[in-house]
Amino acid sequence: MSRVALVTGGMGGLGEAVCIKMAALGYKVVTTYSPSNTKAKDWLKQMQAQGYDFHAYPCDVSDFDSCKACVDTVTKELGPVDVLVNNAGITRDMTFKKMTKTDWDVVMKTNLDSVFNMTKQVMDGMVDRGWGRVINVSSVNGQKGAFGQTNYSAAKAGMHGFTKALALEVSRKGVTVNTISPGYIGTKMVMAIPQEVLDSKILPQIPQGRLGKPEEVAGLVAYLASEEAAFVTGANISINGGQHMF
Ligand code: CAA
Repeated sequence: MSRVALVTGGMGGLGEAVCIKMAALGYKVVTTYSPSNTKAKDWLKQMQAQGYDFHAYPCDVSDFDSCKACVDTVTKELGPVDVLVNNAGITRDMTFKKMTKTDWDVVMKTNLDSVFNMTKQVMDGMVDRGWGRVINVSSVNGQKGAFGQTNYSAAKAGMHGFTKALALEVSRKGVTVNTISPGYIGTKMVMAIPQEVLDSKILPQIPQGRLGKPEEVAGLVAYLASEEAAFVTGANISINGGQHMF
């Protein structure tokens, strides 16, 4: 029977590429979408037209009860989640001087609380079955910081601590927990950066001189989900065109 892979925020940017890759590898692919997303049905139809039979459920990843209800339904309708990709995330970029408590809270809740909220729903089952993969999508900016992203960088850095601690707790149970740290990938999130900032401040920092491709990140997620990656746990794998090395 094929394994169930659940990708949060799988309808855009990196998430869509991850869904496509995982489907190609034979997983039953589930994505969550924000309850306020009015285009979810259109996306599913578009994907169906391309031959992808994805399952999609509304879920506010920043809300524990919403995550519980979502994963309960997925488990009942499709089976237990074997691979969880914590991908959903947002930006509220602005200098610290301009940042309000609301801008801080919404990013922490969506990008970091969500990792607890979703992982909590699936971890006991993974441990009981003796197999599971949790892949947290962090960012180069959680490693090195970014101008205008105190909230985002803090949330993304927080994922690393979570990953390492949980990996220790479940490493003897057949469950791996890893983080990936993509650099600047050609998604809507990156395209929202003012062109002048992208050209003058960001692209010059990328030795490969280009943005990454969502498919390149999806390939890394697929590797971490695979059997061959069983010995990789508590790791943080950078994928950033050489922008940040350590
Ligand atoms: N490095 C250094 N200085 C910078 C800078 C940078 N990256 N960006 C802006 N500045 C400087 C400006 O040159 C300006 O300097 P002066 O006052 O001397 O002219 C000063 O900071 C203020 O700049 P702005 O007037 O542009 O300030 P703003 O408040 O209007 O905008 C900003 C600031 C929102 C941070 C804007 O610069 C911005 O959007 N930057 C991009 C932030 C970014 O990299 N986000 C990543 C999004 S993609 C993502 O998050 C995915 C991922 O994981 C990688």
